[in-house]
Amino acid sequence: MLVPSKRLDSLGASVFSEMDNLKRELEKEGKHLINLSIGSPDRAPALEIRKILSQTVLDDSQYGYTLTRGTDDFRRACAEWYQERFGVDLNPETEVLPLMGSQDGLAHIYLAYIDPGDLALIPDPGYPIYTAGLMLAGGEKVAVPLLEENGFLPDLRQINPDLARKAKLMFLNYPNNPTAAVAPLSFFEEVVAFAKEYDLLICHDAAYSELAFEGYRPVSFLQAKGAKEVGIEFHSVSKTYNLAGARLGFVVGNADVIRNLSQVKSNIDYGVFRPVLTAGAYALSSEKDSIEENRNAYQRRRDILIEGCASAGWNMPNPQGSMFIWAPVPTKQDSVAFAFKLAREAGVIVVPGLAFGDYGEGYVRIAMVQDESVLQEAVRRIQQFLKKCQ
Ligand SMILES: Cc1ncc(COP(=O)(O)O)c(C=O)c1O
Repeated sequence: MLVPSKRLDSLGASVFSEMDNLKRELEKEGKHLINLSIGSPDRAPALEIRKILSQTVLDDSQYGYTLTRGTDDFRRACAEWYQERFGVDLNPETEVLPLMGSQDGLAHIYLAYIDPGDLALIPDPGYPIYTAGLMLAGGEKVAVPLLEENGFLPDLRQINPDLARKAKLMFLNYPNNPTAAVAPLSFFEEVVAFAKEYDLLICHDAAYSELAFEGYRPVSFLQAKGAKEVGIEFHSVSKTYNLAGARLGFVVGNADVIRNLSQVKSNIDYGVFRPVLTAGAYALSSEKDSIEENRNAYQRRRDILIEGCASAGWNMPNPQGSMFIWAPVPTKQDSVAFAFKLAREAGVIVVPGLAFGDYGEGYVRIAMVQDESVLQEAVRRIQQFLKKCQ
């Protein structure tokens, strides 16, 4: 047997794979599971989006490569959406690039900027691709803790200045996965100053920018003055329009960075399927009501979980955004032991915080990816489970 690369070794997904194994084992035993682990949207895209997708799929002319830059219409729709939503001007020729899901860009940006041994500042806990992409490029991670006492925002003054100086880029993500925290514009203004001081590329993942509750609307990193000089922002249509499987996202911001990422991608892929770009452009320019419906659905789910668990003595902060609840472990166990016990005894699958980094210990992430009746059942099971734990 050939020995796989060291690079492969560096892709540790142990907690996730242990959870997966346990899930399979429980399914084999015939246990009925409620899966609140992966952030895969369970709702369907708006009917009009699906109609456009199906009409374009039937058109003979839609099957060629679209290449890295995709269609003019899609890039223009992204720029117009940005102007309308955030008041940020973007040049659709140089400052917008389509992605095969935002994950595509999150993984590949490192190949444009990180040589083996280079450092990057990565939030901990954090969405795993920030670390995995860095490892694939041979870089080294400097973990930046996200602590509850700081609202899960990094304390920039606590970052070791020598490491900040050596690092080439910094990842951020608000509304945040897994902590569900949101960031004010003043934080992004601090980030711009920090990036200028230490000559850092800022990569902001805004996958959940449209999933926020009770009228709150997350800001864009690019709204901060000078942000475009130091960074880029990634967007996903997966969560906003429930198009996760269609694989579409986009990245916007600094034109040099966009060009360099585009150069990497032009060596790897041949672009997003044209009907998906067409449906995405339509969604960005026309689908306002379905986003609101989506938000309301997640808000109702959030309330069922938060209120139901609170009535069993498990208090968790009410997230303002994202599709997650970041809940402190309510027993004396660590996050892995608690999540395993909850899975075995209640059949409810959540992700132990440790899966997102050392600073995730003490929490579990609950994804609101089931409909209300299933969540009510999950709450009933959690209530019984916690009673037994007392
Ligand atoms: C924070 C965050 N960024 C990016 C992604 C990837 O989304 P996409 O489907 O656009 O690749 C996810 C998916 O769960 C996510 O949670």
